[in-house]
Amino acid sequence: MTDPRLAALSQLLPGLRLLTDPADLEHYGRDWTRRWTPAPLAIALPAAADEVQAIVRWARATGVGIVPSGGRTGLSGGAVAADGELVLSLERMNKVLGFDPVDRTLTVQAGIALEAVHNAAREHGLVYPVDFAARGSCSIGGNIATNAGGIRVIRYGNTREWIAGLKIVTGTGELLDVGRGLVKNSSGYDLRHLAVASEGTLGVIVEATLRLADPPPPTSVMLLALPDFESLMRVFATLRAKLRLEAFEFFTDRALYHVVAHGAYRPFEEDHAYYVVAEFAAGEAGEAAALDAFESCVGEGWVLDGVISQSDAQAAQLWRLREGITESLAKYVPYKNDVSVRVSAMPAFLADAQSLLAAQYPQFDVVWFGHIGDGNLHINVLKPEGMDQAAFVADCERVTKLLAAALQAHGGSISAEHGIGLVKKPYLSSTRSAAEIDLMRGIKRVLDPDGVMNPGKLFDPT
Ligand code: FAD
Ligand code: MLT
Ligand code: ZN
Repeated sequence: MTDPRLAALSQLLPGLRLLTDPADLEHYGRDWTRRWTPAPLAIALPAAADEVQAIVRWARATGVGIVPSGGRTGLSGGAVAADGELVLSLERMNKVLGFDPVDRTLTVQAGIALEAVHNAAREHGLVYPVDFAARGSCSIGGNIATNAGGIRVIRYGNTREWIAGLKIVTGTGELLDVGRGLVKNSSGYDLRHLAVASEGTLGVIVEATLRLADPPPPTSVMLLALPDFESLMRVFATLRAKLRLEAFEFFTDRALYHVVAHGAYRPFEEDHAYYVVAEFAAGEAGEAAALDAFESCVGEGWVLDGVISQSDAQAAQLWRLREGITESLAKYVPYKNDVSVRVSAMPAFLADAQSLLAAQYPQFDVVWFGHIGDGNLHINVLKPEGMDQAAFVADCERVTKLLAAALQAHGGSISAEHGIGLVKKPYLSSTRSAAEIDLMRGIKRVLDPDGVMNPGKLFDPT
């Protein structure tokens, strides 16, 4: 290890696991965006909070930036290390630390995978309800740092709602213990919420106490085929009025095309413009209400075809059509927009967005899907084979500027749930006012006075 800064770190923490092999730098230096060339200084894999504190103090002394790293499933470049940073991976800090049956909380180290949290909650007869397709590889720390949403927000809200306490090593090297599982606590600013969606720019989350919920009733899943977007919002209103909805997700014919090409089964003989996957409380009453809702939507011409799962295996098969989309598109290195407006503003925003994107992207395959019940659309533009990536991204950025203006006009957000990272930094001001961004910079200066925490992500220092 020839770099003197790394030699100093090893001297400070002789037990610290440090990786500098080129394959490791490549592996830990990127996330799912695959746009930036990884170039970290090294990878540190601390095993405990005091090691994290020592690493932060070392970073302040040497001026090396730290990139906190969970599962690197992020879609905004938040965990990318392309500029000589130290990647601080929470991979080894992945334990369940405790369960409290009275508080109904689970305390975990931040590097634990979301799916391991689901399993631990289930062992106690409860659920941790935040869920999405990256569950097997994303970490709770990454979920908190991005305020991850997913497929059950419509009923349970975002990650933010489930955080009862956090331990955070700030950019000063201090260990804060905030929230402490209290249900009620009116004692000033709630610092938990500063960490949520902070994208590693204020500190490293090392531990989380998560609230758990009662398991939902048994559910069924239905897949519906729709003729147009207007029907989508009407079907949503109908299903929400008649059923206890656990999820309401949509995707287009292009998404179905790619997910089927990737190995999923083809649900209907005919092609349709839009599809909905809805999960709802089953049982006799639930099934009858679902049939009633289905028939009234068909009667109105809002639904053209449909199927209701008859088994868990069939429910999983229907979910795969929605959850498999991201993976099926990965080979196209898609340019991803992840936008939101209030649910009530969706029809008007969508009319604008559809005509904007149809005019601006006549040459690209554009795939729409997302959490429509939360007002959250994912728009993925696929890079044509052989097209230069920089030219492709430049064109998409030109269009994103126009989309950001449309979002601003409709009061929306340029990032619904994936975070700003590097990808959306140029458009932050379409969603947050200059005064808000100044305040965020001020908060960062207090918690990270030397600017060592995830430098260049979310916003620039000035
Ligand atoms: P990383 O990618 O490692 O990091 C993300 C950000 O968090 C970075 O800025 C990083 O610096 C910071 N960070 C990570 N750990 C810590 C820590 N301990 N302390 C401080 N900062 C930290 N997202 C959704 O919201 N909803 C979805 O439905 C969804 N579906 C997905 C499906 C697939 C197939 C994939 C690949 C991704 C999906 N994502 C989704 C995006 C991604 O999984 C989430 O953003 C997730 O929360 C990232 O977790 P991670 O551990 O991989 O974080
Ligand atoms: C999803 O909803 O599937 C995720 O947010 C992932 C994505 O947008 O690709
Ligand atoms: Zn999503």
